[in-house]
Amino acid sequence: MEKLNGKKILVAGATGGIGQALVKLLKQSGAEVFVTGRNQEKLGQLASAAGIPSSHQFAADVCRSAEITQLMEAVLSHMGAPEILVNAAGIGIIKPIDGLSEEDFMNSIHTNLLGTFLLVKAVLPSMKEAKKGLIINIPGVLGKVPMAGAAAYSASKYGIVGMMQSIREELKRTEIRITNLFLGGVDSPFWDTIDLKVQKEKMIREEEAARSIWFLCQQPASGVVSEMVLQPFNHQAI
Ligand SMILES: NC(=O)c1ccc[n+]([C@@H]2O[C@H](COP(=O)([O-])OP(=O)(O)OC[C@H]3O[C@@H](n4cnc5c(N)ncnc54)[C@H](OP(=O)(O)O)[C@@H]3O)[C@@H](O)[C@H]2O)c1
Repeated sequence: MEKLNGKKILVAGATGGIGQALVKLLKQSGAEVFVTGRNQEKLGQLASAAGIPSSHQFAADVCRSAEITQLMEAVLSHMGAPEILVNAAGIGIIKPIDGLSEEDFMNSIHTNLLGTFLLVKAVLPSMKEAKKGLIINIPGVLGKVPMAGAAAYSASKYGIVGMMQSIREELKRTEIRITNLFLGGVDSPFWDTIDLKVQKEKMIREEEAARSIWFLCQQPASGVVSEMVLQPFNHQAI
C-alpha cells in the first residue's frame, strides 16, 4: 500500500456526503488535502471540522472554466502539484424523459461531464510534468448500467467513462493512473432533490463509499485499479 502521509490530494465535491467523509479519512491518514466545492459556507465548516487551513480551500463551480483555472492557481501556489485528484462533484437529475427539460439535461452534462473535463484538464499538466499521478472519478453504476429515468444522468456518466478511456490512451507512456469508481446508491444528500422512492437504509453508507476511495488512493503505483464496483448488498448483480 502507498502511504498517504504527506500525499498531496485535491478533492472536488469535498462538501458533499462522500467528499466530506473522504476528506476526514485522508486527513486522519496524514495527507495534505486541498478541498473545493461550490458552497463557501459548507467548505469553511468542513475545513474547520477536518483541520484544513484556509490556504487549502477554494470555492469554485466546476462548470466554469475561469473558476477552475483560479482553483488550480490556488492549489499550485499553496499546496503544489496534486499527486491525486478525487472528483466527487456531481449532481443527480433523475426524471423520465417526458418530464426532463433541456435545462435538466444541460445541467447534468455541464456539472458531471464538462466539470470532470475541466478538472482533469487542470491537473494534467503538472501530473504530466511529474510523469505520474492518480485521477479518481465516480461515474457510479449509472455510468455502466442504465436505469429508467436516468437519461440525462447516465448520458453524463457514460460520457465520463468514454472520455477517461480516451485520455487513458493518451497517457499510456506516463505513470498517470485513472480509476473509475462505480458506486451503487449511497445514502447522502445527493438523493434529497430526487423525486424517487428509495430505501436509504439499504444504501451504502457515506463513510463506506469514502473508505473505498481512501483504499484506491493507497494502491501501489506499479499497477492500476482501472475500475471498482461497490454496490449495496441487495443490488449485487451487475
Ligand atoms: N450518492 C449516490 O448514491 C451516488 C451513487 C453513485 C455515484 N455518485 C456520485 O458520487 C459523487 C458524489 O456524490 P454524493 O453522494 O457525495 O453527492 P452530494 O452529497 O450531493 O455532493 C455533491 C458534491 O458535488 C458538488 N457540486 C455539485 N455541483 C457542483 C458544481 N457545479 N461545482 C462544484 N461542485 C459541485 C457539491 O458542492 P456544494 O455542496 O458546495 O454545492 C457537493 O460537494 C457524484 O459525482 C455522484 O454522481 C453518487
